[in-house]
Amino acid sequence: MKNHILRPLWVAILLVSAILIARGLYVPDDFGVNGRNFTYGFHRKGNIEDWKAFPVKYRGRDYCKECHEDNYSSVSDSAHAVIQCENCHGPALGHPDNPEALEIDRSRGLCLRCHADLPYPGSQRGDLPAINPDEHNPDTPCADCHNPHNPEQEG
Ligand code: HEC
Ligand code: HEC
Ligand code: HEC
Ligand code: HEC
Repeated sequence: MKNHILRPLWVAILLVSAILIARGLYVPDDFGVNGRNFTYGFHRKGNIEDWKAFPVKYRGRDYCKECHEDNYSSVSDSAHAVIQCENCHGPALGHPDNPEALEIDRSRGLCLRCHADLPYPGSQRGDLPAINPDEHNPDTPCADCHNPHNPEQEG
């Protein structure tokens, strides 16, 4: 064959072999069609076990009850009853051993996530009691005036 045909042919062969070698090296053994069809079958099988072993970081409100009874009962009777403790205090996995205490965020941002007035007509976010953060006591932490565990009350 002529050179101008052979040369690109070699390039193509090299490319394909490089891809095949890379595939052999990087694609895990258990990746493929692990089921009856492509729709649900095309995945890495070990991934299922990986996710089963994934530690769930959130404990849920009932976990807090035995040690923080007071906070638990005030939140449960308040307008914030629908909000999980960990929504404001962060995931409690390992607490109270490690971390011994959960960090407390007293920033206005914690509350403004839900209470800054946003023009979302028709969405439930738009139905939350809302304030304009630039006009509503802008330099003071919300928790100075509102009790986060019972926001109908003064803090
Ligand atoms: C087995 C007991 C126990 C459980 C369950 C527990 N805590 Fe605690 N928590 C403690 C102890 C002990 C401290 C450190 C002493 C303290 O500040 O009260 C603490 C501290 C905290 C603090 C910091 C208090 C401060 O003044 O700095 C927060 C916030 C907190 N816990 C939230 C939670 C939340 C939310 C949950 C549930 C997801 C929870 N805790 C579950 C025992 C517990
Ligand atoms: C809407 C957000 C929010 C929710 C929900 C919430 N907290 Fe708090 N929590 C705060 C803030 C903010 C502070 C700091 C208050 C302050 O410094 O005046 C705080 C303080 C605390 C403290 C330390 C001071 C104290 O009152 O003892 C503990 C413990 C605590 N929270 C536990 C809980 C538990 C348990 C729940 C759920 C039953 C919960 N929190 C739900 C925002 C929240
Ligand atoms: C995850 C969303 C969320 C966060 C974060 C949150 N709130 Fe709320 N807040 C709510 C919901 C939901 C209600 C109840 C709305 C209703 O009853 O229609 C509420 C109600 C209130 C009310 C009105 C109480 C009443 O009925 O008079 C105040 C005031 C309030 N929150 C203050 C705060 C403050 C201060 C913080 C921060 C420490 C905070 N909220 C953080 C969702 C949130
Ligand atoms: C200096 C005290 C003070 C601070 C700081 C403060 N508030 Fe208020 N807030 C009030 C008072 C008093 C009212 C009730 C009178 C009114 O509606 O203005 C109120 C009303 C509200 C309402 C309306 C409740 C309803 O029924 O509609 C929301 C929501 C609210 N505040 C959220 C917040 C949030 C979020 C922050 C922080 C970003 C904050 N407030 C900071 C004193 C304060």
